[in-house]
Amino acid sequence: MIIVIIGAQWGDEGKGKVVDLLADRFDIVSRYQGGHNAGHSVYVGDKAFVLRLMPSGIIHQDKTCVLGNGMVIDPKAFFEEIDQIREKGVDVSPERLKVSSRAHLIMPYHRALDHTSEERLGNEKIGTTLRGIGPAYEDKAGRRGIRVADAMSPDVLKLRVERNLEEANRIIVLFGQQPLRADEILEEMTPLVERLRPYVCETSHFLAEARKANKKILLEGAQATLLDVDHGTYPYVTSSNPTAGGASVGAGIPPHHITGVLGIVRTYATRVGEGPFPTEMLEGEEDVANLIRERGNEYGSVTKRPRRCGWFDAVGTRYAAELNGFDSVALTKLDVLDALDELKVCIGYEIDGKRIDTFPAVSHDLRQIKPVYETLPGWKTDTLGITNFEDLPDNAKKYVQFLSDRIGVEIGLISTGPERDQTIILKESVMESWFTS
Ligand code: GDP
Ligand code: IMO
Ligand code: MG
Repeated sequence: MIIVIIGAQWGDEGKGKVVDLLADRFDIVSRYQGGHNAGHSVYVGDKAFVLRLMPSGIIHQDKTCVLGNGMVIDPKAFFEEIDQIREKGVDVSPERLKVSSRAHLIMPYHRALDHTSEERLGNEKIGTTLRGIGPAYEDKAGRRGIRVADAMSPDVLKLRVERNLEEANRIIVLFGQQPLRADEILEEMTPLVERLRPYVCETSHFLAEARKANKKILLEGAQATLLDVDHGTYPYVTSSNPTAGGASVGAGIPPHHITGVLGIVRTYATRVGEGPFPTEMLEGEEDVANLIRERGNEYGSVTKRPRRCGWFDAVGTRYAAELNGFDSVALTKLDVLDALDELKVCIGYEIDGKRIDTFPAVSHDLRQIKPVYETLPGWKTDTLGITNFEDLPDNAKKYVQFLSDRIGVEIGLISTGPERDQTIILKESVMESWFTS
């Protein structure tokens, strides 16, 4: 069994919590794209983990975790994260953590270029996490990137760093920054790369063998559908493919071996960084936005930036369901809405007075969109920690059903709090079958 988990909105839907919960039933958890721009928070008892590069299965001592070929890996961030996890008493040895030899490395000049690129864009900036993600993927597509396997050979690493830095420094200097020095980069990278050596693996082969041995594999998407470089609100996107097809490419798994796709959908929407957000709560709705931000702790787990908050966008989420082929949806953060009198759900868009029900390609259009809302009553009852669907207030049940109908996919799981056991698994859902098989 191979299941992919994908965010349906603009990220931070609660993928980490759901992956952690499901990981118990799986043998292997693999990331397939992105890097340490992700921030997946998981709470276990009194311990809080924010996972960036590591799959959220890492907390489960008996699971094997994989960083797939589609990822971009900053070796410094990799070891910082390992050290943080070890400090919390979890072993992270090469026996249970495999890094693809085909993944690309994020170098210090990628971080510098991320800064200059954002500076150059000024008001049009993307609001990236400044982790060097975009420039590393640019080098990958430009066929000059440094892969993990390349870095294992000191001569190749030196050659590539020197060659790439020459070009990178031209841009860095143009923007008034100090040029970086190849000898300093190599001095920093060489010991890190050596430390990485025991983790390096032909991960697609490893996953193929695991599948043949009937191991269960969970593929953990980072970022989300509307941040996908092809399908998202381009150019306000990340530089990888979090969508379902990306899981096959980025983990090196044949598409027809993937048995199911789970969408993670939050009961409302948020966005970090710039870019169009049709249902954003703006003038006149600041109070609701602030209430949601505080109740939902909507601050970036990586950058700590306050997340922009908005109403549920059924157009965007239905688009995500269609693109990824969600078999089931995990609906998160129901409890955050407990305090609201009423809830708006965007069921269509209007551009220049014309009604559209599809997600437009042009970001420019998205900025001018007028959302068409349907308003549902709130429930004003505490749902935190509820584990049985029957125990939810009627209006909460109606809200869940409304969202399911609008996006056209079953809701198989409802999350009612950040902790593992604050979860409802819906009976006879596809999700339940994955969870219990
Ligand atoms: P991810 O990037 O998709 O893994 O999501 P993040 O971890 O960045 O952000 C989700 C936040 O919501 C985290 O702080 C989670 O602990 C928290 N969370 C997840 N599910 C729930 C829920 O059902 N209720 C509440 N109140 N918090 C949740
Ligand atoms: P998780 O996995 C929310 C956003 C950034 C920026 C854009 C591009 O925790 O859901 P990048 O650094 O990737 O080039 O930034 O994408 N972004 C995220 N937003 N959650 C994330 O990850 C994100 N990863 C990147 O804010 O707008
Ligand atoms: Mg996050």
